[in-house]
Amino acid sequence: MSFPVHRMRRLRRSENLRRLVRENALHIDDLIYPLFVTFGQGERLPIPSMPGQFQLSVDQLSAEAQEINALGIPAVLLFGIPEHKDEQGSAGWDKNGVVQQAIRAIKDACPELIVITDVCLCEYTSHGHCGVLDKEGQVLNDATLELLALEALSHAQAGADMIAPSDMMDGRVGKIRTALDNEGFSQIPIMAYAAKFASSFYGPFRQAASCAPSFGDRKTYQMDPANLHEALREVELDIEEGADIVMVKPALAYLDVIRMVKERFAYPTCAYNVSGEYAMIQAAAARGWIDGQAVMYESLLSMKRAGADMIITYAAKDAARLIQA
Ligand code: PBG
Repeated sequence: MSFPVHRMRRLRRSENLRRLVRENALHIDDLIYPLFVTFGQGERLPIPSMPGQFQLSVDQLSAEAQEINALGIPAVLLFGIPEHKDEQGSAGWDKNGVVQQAIRAIKDACPELIVITDVCLCEYTSHGHCGVLDKEGQVLNDATLELLALEALSHAQAGADMIAPSDMMDGRVGKIRTALDNEGFSQIPIMAYAAKFASSFYGPFRQAASCAPSFGDRKTYQMDPANLHEALREVELDIEEGADIVMVKPALAYLDVIRMVKERFAYPTCAYNVSGEYAMIQAAAARGWIDGQAVMYESLLSMKRAGADMIITYAAKDAARLIQA
């Protein structure tokens, strides 16, 4: 047989041919936009390490939600920056906390926009760890679970559509599932930060949410970046405990994990395109070293190709505009 000329290139000759054989696409349906909600009035504070992202006070959220909804983005993920922090993170389950107020404001302005809430203590604790501490400064697992359940419940009571625990304590999905079921919220899904790694890519977020740990690091509860099989065990446990959607975080340096999780469990799988991934693209684009929009789109597409069904990304609005154009 003669060597086939143009064997691979003949389907790449025009944009319409390429469209016909394209295997993956990024849709607006796939996007979840994170929002940082702060205390006070009239606040729209730019986050220096995340150009284009802001800390917003509750009064800003109605317009923000309408803009996000008009772009066709199906969901937001809320993080709270409270006025006061304490050892326990009690602002996290305050009925009138920033996130609880934010949920009500967004659901009032835009009832169809899905409101997912991040459930963790690090934004609310004075020491910045994701749980409560013992005298030696170790994060206590089971004592933390009680508080996470209170926080999740307060979000559901305020009207949250979905709960996303990001603390990485053992057993938190089961604990939160039971708490929600017992209080009449069995219809509320849990999106578990299932394989969440102790990553240096969270740097800009910790500035955005002012939640860097004041001592030590998160390595005793978040995962070792070297481990793939352990990630599968984490996901398996969260599914057993009742997770409806499983998340891999970060995304770009963990595409292999996304692929394995999707293949192994065939569950709705979410990739978190984290703050450091966003900041790197913004920084390089600002210097004219890369085409920021194109690199952002290619990165998000790679997460879809790896197996993600949905992506939490600070670039959600830009991506939606690009897709619509
Ligand atoms: C809270 C939380 C973090 C992120 C999401 N939820 C910070 C952390 O675990 O240190 C990071 C998100 C990002 O970097 O965009 N635990």
